[in-house]
Amino acid sequence: MYQTIGFIGTGNMGSAIAKAAAKSGQAETILLANRTPAKAAALAAELPGGTLSTNEEIARTAKLIFLGVKPQMMQLVLDPLEPILRKREDRFILVTMAAGLTCDRIQDMVDLDCPVIRIMPNTPVSIGAGMVQYACSENVADSDLQAFLGAFAWAGRFSSIPEFRMDAGSAVSACGPAFADIFLEAMADAAWSVHDHFKGKAAYLNIMKNMSVDCDCCAVAADPKIGDIGILASLDPVALDQACLDLVYASDDPGKADLIERIESLHGVHTVEAAADLGIGTREYELITLD
Ligand SMILES: NC(=O)c1ccc[n+]([C@@H]2O[C@H](COP(=O)([O-])OP(=O)(O)OC[C@H]3O[C@@H](n4cnc5c(N)ncnc54)[C@H](OP(=O)(O)O)[C@@H]3O)[C@@H](O)[C@H]2O)c1
Repeated sequence: MYQTIGFIGTGNMGSAIAKAAAKSGQAETILLANRTPAKAAALAAELPGGTLSTNEEIARTAKLIFLGVKPQMMQLVLDPLEPILRKREDRFILVTMAAGLTCDRIQDMVDLDCPVIRIMPNTPVSIGAGMVQYACSENVADSDLQAFLGAFAWAGRFSSIPEFRMDAGSAVSACGPAFADIFLEAMADAAWSVHDHFKGKAAYLNIMKNMSVDCDCCAVAADPKIGDIGILASLDPVALDQACLDLVYASDDPGKADLIERIESLHGVHTVEAAADLGIGTREYELITLD
């Protein structure tokens, strides 16, 4: 548990992490400072333990000092804080989220060999669904890191990455969801080619049995957690897939949770959305039960 965590810069990213800090409940006090103080004040009013502060107070007292300003502002922000940090006799850690600034660069900016944790987060941290890559300066002790990761576990997933890969990792985590959607759309494109080739002379069957969260192309698929639902047929493949999705969501089998988690974590519905947009079929349907 940290006595005090401080955020210098409570814009999009700083405030998202501050919210995660509050949810984690691992800090007695969360100090919030921003160039436009009203922004930090509004956040302080919203967060348990949140207190309006100043850059200087945070530099003097916080055990974790989050630097939530734009990279081009960093030197300007750190210059007046350097003498304050230099006077400290207790251990503190600078946490930078600035794109493109290495741990070494942050140490150079404050002209101090203080421990630095570099993170590359995304805004879903504010709802506990973040993906955060991190790297540390050499003087971050394992106990520092474990305390940090423990305190922010609520924010989402943390992944250690060699610092020289941080820029590439940031690009993947920032643009990755868009690439995943392109792949999902490509599957709809491929389905459209087959559907178009048969020009209405194809019928489609979905067999909702032995439903593993894994694709059947997996060498060793996970065991099914949800019971069999049935066999569905339609001339419209989009309506068919939509009906399958709806049946999973409507199921009263508690095992559906794993399947839904897998569908949602991979944005699986997007293939159905894309197929409907391509005009392969419609997401509207009537379900007729045959005995
Ligand atoms: N946004 C993202 O998704 C994301 C993802 C990963 C990393 N990052 C990194 O996070 C950092 C912040 O980005 P952002 O998107 O959150 O930008 P932002 O919304 O513009 O936030 C920056 C904040 O810094 C404040 N600020 C500027 N000068 C200051 C000073 N001297 N003292 C205190 N606060 C000051 C600004 O205050 P005002 O209210 O006065 O403008 C603003 O609230 C950047 O380094 C960026 O690379 C962002």
